[in-house]
Amino acid sequence: MSYVITIDGPAGAGKSTIAKRAAQELGINYLDTGAIYRAIALILAEAEVKPGNEEYLREALSKIRVELRDGKVLVNDFDVSGEIRTPEVDELASVYSALPVVRQALLGLQQEQEKHGSIVAEGRDVGSVVFPNARVKFFLTASPEARARRRYFQRTGKEADLSQSDTEYGEILSAIIERDKNDSTRDTAPLSIPEGAVYLDTSDMTENQVLSFILDHVKAALSQ
Ligand code: DC
Repeated sequence: MSYVITIDGPAGAGKSTIAKRAAQELGINYLDTGAIYRAIALILAEAEVKPGNEEYLREALSKIRVELRDGKVLVNDFDVSGEIRTPEVDELASVYSALPVVRQALLGLQQEQEKHGSIVAEGRDVGSVVFPNARVKFFLTASPEARARRRYFQRTGKEADLSQSDTEYGEILSAIIERDKNDSTRDTAPLSIPEGAVYLDTSDMTENQVLSFILDHVKAALSQ
């Protein structure tokens, strides 16, 4: 019997890395729902479909085909996997993912992924809206500062020196705080802890510690 594990939480809490590694350890598929929102936002923005124009949005969405294949994101057969990982798309995805018409259009696509077997799904509402019956649900978070430090490291390859006022670190931190606000105060599917989810603050944990915690919980649940 296939099963779904969900990992929700804010940007930079370490969800992607952990979800990917957990899926690999469990020998099941990994579903990055953020990548789907990013791809859609990129294409809508490129086609100049403004967030306020609901009818036009609906029509555009009906013509966009998003596929996840071998870890790649394809939009109408174009591979956009690289293009969706930029600060500009961070912002676009935050704006477009707040629209009910967009969320509705992407719900079925996310749920369909279960057809291909068990999955570790990662996102903002995967445990609450997309897969409410998931076998195990997690909510991963970390302080904005810890998340900004991680993102800084990802971008620059070095640790942020917090004794100096580093403009890039400051900008990353402000962007995280701003995105948190958008993602948690929007009317549709705001970021929230799904009912029954295991809550984990990863601020002071290493990646391996988080992974072990998740795998222990999953294995215990699967053996019941
Ligand atoms: O996890 P991420 O940074 O790749 O997500 C990109 C954006 O998409 C982010 O603003 C939150 C949004 N998102 C969402 O609203 N629901 C999801 N299930 C996944 C992502």
